[in-house]
Amino acid sequence: MTRSILVTSALPYANGSIHLGHLVEYIQTDIWVRFQKMRGHTCHYVCADDTHGTPIMLRAEKEGITPEQLIERIHGEHLRDFSGFHIAFDNYYSTNSAENRELAQGIYRRLRDQGLIDVRTIEQLYDPEKQMFLPDRFIKGKCPKCHAKDQYGDSCEVCGATYTPTDLINPYSAVSGATPIKKSSEHYFFKLGECTDFLKAWTRDGHLQDEAANKMDEWLSGGLQSWDISRDAPYFGFEIPDAPGKYFYVWLDAPVGYMASFQNLCAQRDLDFDAYWNAGAQTELYHFIGKDILYFHALFWPAMLKSAGYRTPTKIFAHGFLTVDGQKMSKSRGTFITAESYLQQGLNPEWLRYYYAAKLNATLEDIDLNLEDFTARVNSDLIGKYVNIASRAAGFIGKHFDGTLAPQITDSALISRLAAAAPQIADLYEAREYGKALREIMALADAVNQYVDEKKPWTLAKNPEAAAELHEVCSVSVNLFRLLTIYLKPVLPQVAAMAETFLAIPPLTWADASTTLRGHRIQAYQHLMARIDPKQITALTEANKQSLQAVDHSPARHAEAQAHQQAIAETISIDDFAKIDLRIAKIVNAEQVEGAEKLLKLTLDIGLETRTVFAGIKSAYQPQDLIGRLTVMVANLAPRKMKFGLSEGMVLAAGDGGGIYLLAPDSGAQPGMRVK
Ligand code: 2FM
Ligand code: ZN
Repeated sequence: MTRSILVTSALPYANGSIHLGHLVEYIQTDIWVRFQKMRGHTCHYVCADDTHGTPIMLRAEKEGITPEQLIERIHGEHLRDFSGFHIAFDNYYSTNSAENRELAQGIYRRLRDQGLIDVRTIEQLYDPEKQMFLPDRFIKGKCPKCHAKDQYGDSCEVCGATYTPTDLINPYSAVSGATPIKKSSEHYFFKLGECTDFLKAWTRDGHLQDEAANKMDEWLSGGLQSWDISRDAPYFGFEIPDAPGKYFYVWLDAPVGYMASFQNLCAQRDLDFDAYWNAGAQTELYHFIGKDILYFHALFWPAMLKSAGYRTPTKIFAHGFLTVDGQKMSKSRGTFITAESYLQQGLNPEWLRYYYAAKLNATLEDIDLNLEDFTARVNSDLIGKYVNIASRAAGFIGKHFDGTLAPQITDSALISRLAAAAPQIADLYEAREYGKALREIMALADAVNQYVDEKKPWTLAKNPEAAAELHEVCSVSVNLFRLLTIYLKPVLPQVAAMAETFLAIPPLTWADASTTLRGHRIQAYQHLMARIDPKQITALTEANKQSLQAVDHSPARHAEAQAHQQAIAETISIDDFAKIDLRIAKIVNAEQVEGAEKLLKLTLDIGLETRTVFAGIKSAYQPQDLIGRLTVMVANLAPRKMKFGLSEGMVLAAGDGGGIYLLAPDSGAQPGMRVK
């Protein structure tokens, strides 16, 4: 029976880069989706950027751009990184979309009409300078327990204590530095407690992994609090209907983003949205997530859907976190590796797909990327066991048999053995036991290599009388390689596509495991995959150490940058320093200068006046990216007459010969402020 399946991965925030930790989930999901499609099921895979909230708003402000500009740029970067790892979404959308606004507001109205929304006044910390309420992460201060300085408002990174921001000693706003004050405002709450009976049943009804269900039990038995779903302006998000100045908290409209992305896909492909989301829908809905966001997906989300009259998820598939060499990813060790740098260093994305798959199972356990084991495993399994089968057999077929496989195969025992494994391997993929599936497949690859070693085609090829046997052995080998390719295809889509070209066949499906190729002409063998050179791994971690120091990714460049580090200049008196009038400047215009190799012409607002400055920063910035940004200028530098006009000051930038980094104040600074 053909199934109709909708699959999602968690929506990544639109203010950060995709890294190897994220990729565990997208690779896990993509393998499952590709498997379902190979089985002939209808399967849609949707995702989106999670675009709302305070951090995104503040980051855009810091960059001097609008949140819309920021999320558009990040959307492009995320999609580039995902495609680089062959993550094949049917739609990759944004939560800042018309569909999402409609759906989120619609769900809210249904909850409200059923009396499930409460309005209460609560007191929170407020930044009087920036004039905004501060999320916990934006309040810092001394830990109330161990007195460590500069700890976040929710927990101490030094002693591990958890507390509320009001417990901090000498709290300050991480946005402006101001001392927060307490301020009251009205908040909107979803009365989750009223869904307790429903959730108690739902979480024990086969939708969650056992471990996840047990965790939810802990929350449920503690009693469910109402969920605060509103945030006050200024906030980047959707306004709550009939509540001016109140916005949906990002976690309210994020999961709705799954629906919105699918709705957008429905419009593109003429699909039936209701068949996937209406209460009583017969289709299947799966969410792949990290175990840290179970609470949102296993409690809030089903409660929202159920109360608003929609269907609830078929299953929530939670996975564990990634460690690298047994530890949390770390910038100083160079193991906080972005998707972009992995690809830029020339590493093959399918190596990582294979390694993750080999480590993945259906539990919430963390998975470890051991870099030494990664190299050994990929080289031994993929190159040593799998790819080599094709390269060994194909040469003889091309050279001795005009590229054509034998019309008949007499010794088909091993082919039958491999074909017979299809249902079991399918069950393992279906159950997300990829590690076990790959162990089965590699055991079969071992048997194939043993067959080739026993038959010794290289010896047969020397004996003209053994031509028929050589033809048979190589044709069997090619068929065995084809079967292994079917089983590996969800994990290695690119290699499988190259193998399909080499075998001159249409895209392989799971059902093809019950057929063989006979009397069929294949193409010349093309190299399918290279080995990992351990040096590439060293270069990768080195490159990720360097990105911390804000130089570019190449090791050679790093050495050059160090060479450019200059000794500290002679001391000056404070009076000397006071002579320099440094001001915050807003770049209100930036343009190219005709005929100038290095200069951009900047128009700077410094409060009481505007200045024109020619700055040697052309190699590092596009003029349009500078407009709206804040920087620092020397306002009392004597004007200099240059070839292109009068330069009335100088902007400050850091440089090491390898790059140019314009200085920018923390957000909150205003044009004209004196820098001291
Ligand atoms: O934790 C996160 O990265 C969130 N952006 C995930 C959202 S998943 C879904 F609910 F939108
Ligand atoms: Zn502490």
